[in-house]
Amino acid sequence: MLPFVLLLGIETSCDETSVAVVRDGRDVLSCIISSSKHDFETVGGVIPEEAARKQLEVMLPVLEKSLHDANVSPQDLDGVAVTSGPGLLGSLLVGTTAARTLSAVWGKPLIPVHHTLGHLSSVWLSELKNDVANDPLFPILTLSVSGGHTDIWYRTSHTKGSLIGSTKDDAAGEAFDKGAVQLGLGYPGGPALSRLAESGDPTVYKFPTPLHGDSSIDFSFSGLKTSLKYLLRDLGEKAHDPMCLQNLAAGYELAICKHLTEKLEVALLRFSDVKEIHIVGGVSANRTLRDNAHALGTRKSIAVRFPQNLRFCTDNGAMIASAGYFLVQEKPEMLHAQMKTSSTVRLEDVLRS
Ligand code: KG4
Ligand code: ZN
Repeated sequence: MLPFVLLLGIETSCDETSVAVVRDGRDVLSCIISSSKHDFETVGGVIPEEAARKQLEVMLPVLEKSLHDANVSPQDLDGVAVTSGPGLLGSLLVGTTAARTLSAVWGKPLIPVHHTLGHLSSVWLSELKNDVANDPLFPILTLSVSGGHTDIWYRTSHTKGSLIGSTKDDAAGEAFDKGAVQLGLGYPGGPALSRLAESGDPTVYKFPTPLHGDSSIDFSFSGLKTSLKYLLRDLGEKAHDPMCLQNLAAGYELAICKHLTEKLEVALLRFSDVKEIHIVGGVSANRTLRDNAHALGTRKSIAVRFPQNLRFCTDNGAMIASAGYFLVQEKPEMLHAQMKTSSTVRLEDVLRS
């Protein structure tokens, strides 16, 4: 066991500035998240330069609050983990520059972490102390669903695994965001569309489940977006009726969630030794997805886990500290890794089966 227990985690890959203190990759002592997403509600997406400018402003206050809430001082820390990519380049540079500086000034090791590896580790995060007994068991099938990717991983350890399925076009979060724009909702659309869907009836407007009956583990969401566009066109004025909008949102949301769980079921048939299913990333906060996945788990007698707290589903510094911890446990050479900030680095190149 490496003497490496208390990590600071910094995440700034998109519109969030988040700093967390995590012990042993699990216990979250603090996790501060400041988001500029409300600035982009009406423009339908993040403006990269604006996001980075805001991150520069809030980085130090977020850092100070994180250390204060965790009741630790820099000397107590064993290292600084930071998202090195992928993400918006300007945003990544704010986080990685802060991390490099802190690491040099405090004399602590710097651990570069792939953003998606952070999401994959978010299931380990706990607000209880020393929740080791509750640790997930490998091999794990992890569905990672966010605004930037929709992937299924077969993992035998934190650092070993292979990508077994991926989206051919949009990501699941993008499907939520683009559907929300069509329904007249703000950015980010996932939570707004999901709230609207809560009071709707998903059986009124039936959307086709993409790649239904196909034996691949791939995903595709662009057809759903087009179906919604044509439905709205055909409904004309009626589409402005609040009840109609709720029903459309419910049908659209259900189709996305059914597609995700159907492909998880195909993956389970192919990888019958898996002990658990994990669902991570922003879309894993979705209630309908959680219900559908739990129903699949009950039917297949397999444990299904999500991040324990909804704030660990979307981007946060705690998942980066957690991934940094497990990375160093399994690959101690990461302590001396050169950090390359990259907006496009692939997790397939980080994980090896
Ligand atoms: O993981 P994340 O915070 O950032 C990326 O790495 O992309 O995911 C953000 C995505 C957005 O597309 C957002 O609309 C979606 O997650 N999202 C949701 C929900 N909460 C966030 N989608 C559906 N239902 C939600 N409750
Ligand atoms: Zn993310």
